[in-house]
Amino acid sequence: MVPAPKISASLLSADFGYLADSIGAAEEAGVDEFHFDVMDGHFVPNLTFGPPILEAVKRHATLPIDVHMMDRSPEHLIQPLAEAGGDIITVHIEGVADVDQTIDVILETGAAPAVAIRPRTPVSSLWSVADRIRRVLVMTVEPGLGGQDFLPDTLPKISEALSMMRTAHPDNRIEIAVDGGIKSQTIGPTLEAGATTFISGSGIFSNPDGIEAAVQQLRERLASANRG
Ligand code: DX5
Ligand code: ZN
Repeated sequence: MVPAPKISASLLSADFGYLADSIGAAEEAGVDEFHFDVMDGHFVPNLTFGPPILEAVKRHATLPIDVHMMDRSPEHLIQPLAEAGGDIITVHIEGVADVDQTIDVILETGAAPAVAIRPRTPVSSLWSVADRIRRVLVMTVEPGLGGQDFLPDTLPKISEALSMMRTAHPDNRIEIAVDGGIKSQTIGPTLEAGATTFISGSGIFSNPDGIEAAVQQLRERLASANRG
């Protein structure tokens, strides 16, 4: 059984002056999760937010929070981010020296570990840890910025990640998340390729029709797409 599709609202595109309102509106619109992008200015050029802002988000959110760490050597920040409210901690395979050790650090905090790959990183780089994680995040844009165009050549990697995770987890309790350029026009093909968790920032928070309509449009597209 493949899990029901989840929509994860990426707070990178929320109005930071009214973060609590954006969180409330996304919850009311029926998203399943929040996505919190931590950028360190090294792994990616930009800087975003860290534990104190996550703590503030956690005070207003009732849904689980996935912390996407776009960091080089993220280990020292894992514990503070888990304590601040991260339920899932996602690290980039390209940013860690020893992914097994990093997963140990995440597990010690009680958070669920997940590993992300950039568009040009092969899925095979995750084989050795596939049985230790239940979620893989396939980046569908280069990490570092919201509002970029979805890269269609990442679609085969979604299918490849699904089959790798199915092999590693015969119970099928797995998630393939996609992040970057996920909007009503692009969400269907990612579901068809095998994605289960759809992270969307500008597609939700910058949709001219508003947050509620945006989430509804994403749900409609998911309902009309054919899962492969
Ligand atoms: C980009 C971030 C994404 C970002 C996606 O590096 O990891 O989570 O918020 O934004 P959109 O959905 O606008 O492409
Ligand atoms: Zn992200």
